[in-house]
Amino acid sequence: MKLIKPFSIGVIALSSLAYACGGGNTESTETSNTAQAPAKEVKVSLEDKYKDDPVFITGSAKAKEAGCTACHMVERKVVGPSYADVAEKYENTPENVAMLTDHVINGNVGNWGEIQMPSHPQLERADVEDMIKYVLLLKR
Ligand code: HEC
Repeated sequence: MKLIKPFSIGVIALSSLAYACGGGNTESTETSNTAQAPAKEVKVSLEDKYKDDPVFITGSAKAKEAGCTACHMVERKVVGPSYADVAEKYENTPENVAMLTDHVINGNVGNWGEIQMPSHPQLERADVEDMIKYVLLLKR
């Protein structure tokens, strides 16, 4: 039953659209405008927006492998801030990349609250830099 309902609504919308187009007067223009409006509200996720960027591809793979995903999500705060919030707070400059790389390697607390990010001394600095560049890419 649940499958049939939206389908039949679609058929009704389509047939009224076809009817409106056949009309060819001012009324038909109004009808097709209302029919198109919802399509513009479809939101593209940040992952979709940047998925083809090499910085995204390299950095997201390394962040996944390093386990950052246990505490960070792209658009939602979990234990740590969302990457999108971090990207909003810091400009993508070499100084900020270096500073945030230090925070990930040494651990940090106080910039986002009272929960501490643990240190990651086992990670290569160049790899963490790739992850940070990916995080700072994720501007809304
Ligand atoms: C155990 C949970 C946890 C893990 C794992 C973790 N983080 Fe965090 N992260 C946090 C918390 C909590 C904060 C907020 C720290 C603060 O308030 O300064 C944070 C903050 C950050 C910040 C912002 C730092 C700042 O100074 O504003 C970045 C960037 C970041 N994390 C990246 C990473 C990356 C990259 C990894 C993987 C190598 C990672 N995190 C792994 C919990 C975590």
